[in-house]
Amino acid sequence: MFARSLLALRAAPLSHTRGLQTTAPRLSDHVFLHRNTPENNESIPFEFNSENIKRAAEIIAKYPTQYKKGAVIPLLDLGQRQHGFTSISVMNHVAKLLEMPPMRVYEVATFYTMFNREPVGKYFLQVCTTTPCQLCNSDAILDAVEKNLGIKVGETTKDKMFTLVEVECAGACSNAPVLAVNDDYYEDLTPEATVKILEDLKAGRKPAKLGPQSSRQTSEPITGLTSLTSEPTGPGFGLQKGL
Ligand code: FES
Repeated sequence: MFARSLLALRAAPLSHTRGLQTTAPRLSDHVFLHRNTPENNESIPFEFNSENIKRAAEIIAKYPTQYKKGAVIPLLDLGQRQHGFTSISVMNHVAKLLEMPPMRVYEVATFYTMFNREPVGKYFLQVCTTTPCQLCNSDAILDAVEKNLGIKVGETTKDKMFTLVEVECAGACSNAPVLAVNDDYYEDLTPEATVKILEDLKAGRKPAKLGPQSSRQTSEPITGLTSLTSEPTGPGFGLQKGL
């Protein structure tokens, strides 16, 4: 029975239009096992470059000597930034630096979705489709990206420029819908604004505006101020005159 429903799930087309009460049928696109591939295997050497050796030392110095393994996440992040993704060699190097069993590092790297354990494109696109973003039409944003780049979620363009993933709350709900490109957030998106951002990136230009693509500043109310609209009262406000 279970197998049959699993088959049905596989057969079901992935749709970006769905009711709020249903969860999209989505199969995990990541395995938690490492499989050696030509671009990701233990024989590929990795070490921090001279600049990152210094940064790693600074990070490790923040932790008591006996707890230096606490630096595992920032060091994996540093390794990912240098190497492009968190390869098995990056994990092994971090394990050696922190004197941790490699398995403990693998556990961290497989738990946190911020670590890409496979190569990704130059621009790593994360479209948030959790409820607040979905209510603000994130499905249309995802559609616009897929159509513009000709790839689906989990895929990388042939020229290795863009990788697209769908993420849970990106932490910028008040500016939904949101697209993260590497470390940059683009918010208050429309499909047109999204395509413009992609076209800029394709042309090698940095998109003109980060953050909200609407007229508002950061996350101020889009309809104008709703509080703190009058001069603040001074000290003693509301007290009896005699006091
Ligand atoms: S739900 Fe999209 S940023 Fe929070």
